[in-house]
Amino acid sequence: MGNGVATVADIVVCKDSDSLALDAAYRFAALSASATRNGRPFRVALAGGNTPAKLYKLLASQQFREAIDWSSTHLYFGDERCVPLDSEYSNYRMAVETLIGPLGLLEANVHRIPAEQPEPEQAAEQYTQTLADTFGASTLPRFDLILLGMGSDGHTASLFPHSAALNEASRWVVRNEPGLQPFVPRVTLTFPVINNAANVLFLVAGKDKTEMAAKVLQGPPAPHEMPSQSVQPQNGTLTWLLDRDAARGLQL
Ligand code: 6PG
Repeated sequence: MGNGVATVADIVVCKDSDSLALDAAYRFAALSASATRNGRPFRVALAGGNTPAKLYKLLASQQFREAIDWSSTHLYFGDERCVPLDSEYSNYRMAVETLIGPLGLLEANVHRIPAEQPEPEQAAEQYTQTLADTFGASTLPRFDLILLGMGSDGHTASLFPHSAALNEASRWVVRNEPGLQPFVPRVTLTFPVINNAANVLFLVAGKDKTEMAAKVLQGPPAPHEMPSQSVQPQNGTLTWLLDRDAARGLQL
């Protein structure tokens, strides 16, 4: 991406998925505190899927909830499935159950992708407007933190192998077609936004990610086959948090 110089990723191996969630929670809290110290809102895009649930529950727990100024924290979403809000497949529903609900976050601080509507393209346009309105700029939004997962097929957010959205070089949010369950249209941030973040943090756990993690991080470049390789923040940090199972194939 960009000038073709790959961002050096910081690879951190955690004992297990609980340790991974704890490490991620400390990083979240530290970045949040930094934004608060500088009198800025802390804007973070949440990852979907299952892995982040432990992190979200931890952030809402007694151990972390007081460490973060939630009144100046704004939650966004890296992607959403085009399903009803109460669907088991909804990333928003997962975040409500694990983080937003338990903390009682104000609606004004939660900016979900309205992907439940019948037209995914409209949802993408509306979310683009939400980003422009809340970041207060017409220039590319720069998130303080973007949380990402990686699928066993190498996708991240809803940027699936060989999908149209991989080539998006200007729009911030687009519709994309799924490569994995649930086979419904998706709405996703694009690489220009992801690679403009100040900090990007991958959360990858489980044996089913071992092979792909090694290929993405240490294999030859093949970004259309493994879109996670295209996450290269141009002026930001890139950290991969893996548990031992997911990291087993890495030469470290
Ligand atoms: C989604 C996520 C997706 C997820 C990966 C990993 O909407 O599904 O954005 O990119 O992060 O598929 O999911 P798991 O953490 O459940 O393995």
